[in-house]
Amino acid sequence: MTIAATQTFPGAAWDELPDVMLLGSWPPAEPLPGVDVLVEAVVAVGPAELDLLPDLRLVANYGVGYDRVDVAACRERGVAVTNTPGVLDAAVADLTLALILACRRHLVASDRFVREGRWERGWARPELLGRDLAGATLGVVGFGRIGRQVASRAQAFGMRIVFHRRTGGLPLDELLRTADVVSLHLPLTPETDGLVSRERLALLQDGATLVNTARGAITDEHALVEELVSGRISAGLDVFAAEPRVPERLLELPNVVLTPHVASATVETRAEMTRVLVDNVLAFLRGKPLPDEVSG
Ligand code: DGY
Repeated sequence: MTIAATQTFPGAAWDELPDVMLLGSWPPAEPLPGVDVLVEAVVAVGPAELDLLPDLRLVANYGVGYDRVDVAACRERGVAVTNTPGVLDAAVADLTLALILACRRHLVASDRFVREGRWERGWARPELLGRDLAGATLGVVGFGRIGRQVASRAQAFGMRIVFHRRTGGLPLDELLRTADVVSLHLPLTPETDGLVSRERLALLQDGATLVNTARGAITDEHALVEELVSGRISAGLDVFAAEPRVPERLLELPNVVLTPHVASATVETRAEMTRVLVDNVLAFLRGKPLPDEVSG
């Protein structure tokens, strides 16, 4: 069996994989017959890429989100797809709270204020007044494993929680109208692509904060940029519609905190993700059921 990988992944489990062929580029410059397993993160795997790997049987995706893998095209060719669920919930929830706090308490602007030598008088100044988390309402959109961990952390800060999910909770529009902070925790699917549309963004209260650690395309990014440029709302964004491209106009805005898709980026979590990925590949190599096969 031949395993090809778009990159190496951190953690001790990686070394348990036998003979990994590291691909110099993605997609490969020429067809690679004989590759059975592809280990990848954040690359597109669709019909064109699958054509280049004619013997492929498994795509092992590093990450819980597998929106860049065309699972239907894989299935048509008898290629299974696995992901790494369950081990990154706490890390993503932590970064979500960090972004909420950073936005509500002007953390980045405060840091800049000090570094730029603008702190000339005492502390009782009004420029960097933030908003309390305690007593504010957090609207969690998508109430799965990560959304629930975000909610329990926010509750510890004294926030009131409302949530929306396909099968219950508040209707999305009502949540957007009522929450002080809205946090997105949905996978990117055809149903959630553009879900937080221009019209829905307009429902947010003046002064509300939108946090996105899920996928950029869940929001209408153009409309979001316009709302942010207007200064009506603030946002903490870890994800963008066309990463690594970040809309230029966001770069100078004081009401946006930007991070480069690092919600799961802790040493411990990334090593656990590698563990789960490797367990799936080893199960495949041994002809065992795949622990984390996705169904589409
Ligand atoms: C995932 O696993 O899909 C995340 O976006 C990585 O942080």
